[in-house]
Amino acid sequence: MELPTPAARYLGGADRDALAAFRCSRGPWYEDDVERFISQRLMDRHEFRRTRADHAVIGLEPPEHGLVAVGAHEEDLTRDGDVELTSTYLEVGAVSLAMQGAVLPDVEPLDPDGKPVSLGRWLIEVLLADVATRERAPVVRAVVARENGRSLALCSRVGLHHERDDADDRFVQRWGVFEA
Ligand SMILES: CC(C)(COP(=O)(O)OP(=O)(O)OC[C@H]1O[C@@H](n2cnc3c(N)ncnc32)[C@H](O)[C@@H]1OP(=O)(O)O)[C@@H](O)C(=O)NCCC(=O)NCCS
Repeated sequence: MELPTPAARYLGGADRDALAAFRCSRGPWYEDDVERFISQRLMDRHEFRRTRADHAVIGLEPPEHGLVAVGAHEEDLTRDGDVELTSTYLEVGAVSLAMQGAVLPDVEPLDPDGKPVSLGRWLIEVLLADVATRERAPVVRAVVARENGRSLALCSRVGLHHERDDADDRFVQRWGVFEA
């Protein structure tokens, strides 16, 4: 499926109904977890976190399609030797079920292989562009289920190449450095 380039905007309390209705799981446990998080917890967490830290929820809306993708990032702490840096945690990213795999023909390919830009790829691009407006060290981290092949492929594509164990064996941490 081809889509017009979506508008991106910060989501807030007025978007609770759209988030509650957001469906992104095809059935595996790790996609159910993401769907539950977005539909039941994300806005509560945002309203809690933003009083304490820099936390953002971003939605993508192509003309006449409503909310087709949701992502969130927040400030994180990374240690570089003895120095503690404010970095970024990519908390979640998901494309609605009907739009998974959809591409944006009006966006120039972003990667050297010239692959058409998918909605998932564009979502991460938008999140990283928003992160770049913050005063943070350019280190970005995500936690991904080891079984989530699509998410791991997307992490590799966007530059989260490094990998380390997570405290929970079912997950792995992916991180990358995004120098301007
Ligand atoms: C993960 C997600 C955001 C990707 O969005 P998308 O628009 O479907 O993205 P793409 O079509 O670009 O696919 C992403 C990559 O997965 C690959 N892929 C597709 N099906 C796959 C499969 N079954 N196994 C492994 N990789 C697969 C694609 O080829 C692509 O990799 P490439 O760019 O190297 O070719 C989307 O699938 C989603 O919302 N999943 C459910 C929620 C979720 O798991 N979110 C991630 C954790 S927060």
